[in-house]
Amino acid sequence: MKKLIAGNWKMNGLRDSNAALLAALTGSSRHWQCDVAVCVPSVYLQQVRDLVAGTDLSCGAQDVSAHESGAYTGEISADMLRDLGVRYSIVGHSERRHYHGETDALVALKAQRALACGITPIVCVGETLAERESGQTEDVVRRQLAAVIHANGHCISEIVVAYEPIWAIGSGKTATPEMAQQVHAVLRMQLNAASQMAQRIRILYGGSMNATNARSLLAQPDIDGGLVGGASLKADDFLSIIAAAY
Ligand code: 13P
Repeated sequence: MKKLIAGNWKMNGLRDSNAALLAALTGSSRHWQCDVAVCVPSVYLQQVRDLVAGTDLSCGAQDVSAHESGAYTGEISADMLRDLGVRYSIVGHSERRHYHGETDALVALKAQRALACGITPIVCVGETLAERESGQTEDVVRRQLAAVIHANGHCISEIVVAYEPIWAIGSGKTATPEMAQQVHAVLRMQLNAASQMAQRIRILYGGSMNATNARSLLAQPDIDGGLVGGASLKADDFLSIIAAAY
């Protein structure tokens, strides 16, 4: 399966730095053996979409509304993302679950809205440190994914899943390749049980992925790419991760 490396810029970037970063990335894009996307703040979607047009880099959003349209101040609909030519949207990132109270049910609806508009949702799941230490990791990620499977039925084969252990995000602590693979295998089994087409679903790892650890993580049988935060803001680091994905 072709791997996917997606950068999550989070709340970083300004027009000038975005343009410089994208110029450095797209300059080498013809050598890539994986799919590559950058998920950017919504105000820059149009800028990024324009700058990546005609390159191998795709543009993604970091969130999408669960509602179709209407009186939802500040929200951005999946239709708007489609209108801008956006290809992916992260949904259920742990930072949104934590800081914005997003529930499994809401995340499932967001994935549904994205799919309805032809946007590929990158559905994030992952456990806290306390959950890991009390042996709940598999139950937590299975519960988070089950909500999305339940709401989306056979369309599930169109999603991307990202396993992001919360304790590994922005902390410099990466899950070992073996720890990540163990959870990815659980998610793979759950997806296989839900859809005959599940083999095509990419399961990304996220959490302090960097130029040094990417290769060993991406070598695991059920790790089909990466969702990269901090390292996606530095062209050299992000390019090294892309080069490790084949
Ligand atoms: P870091 O790569 O900065 O740990 O962030 C991971 C992440 O949250 C990507 O969505």
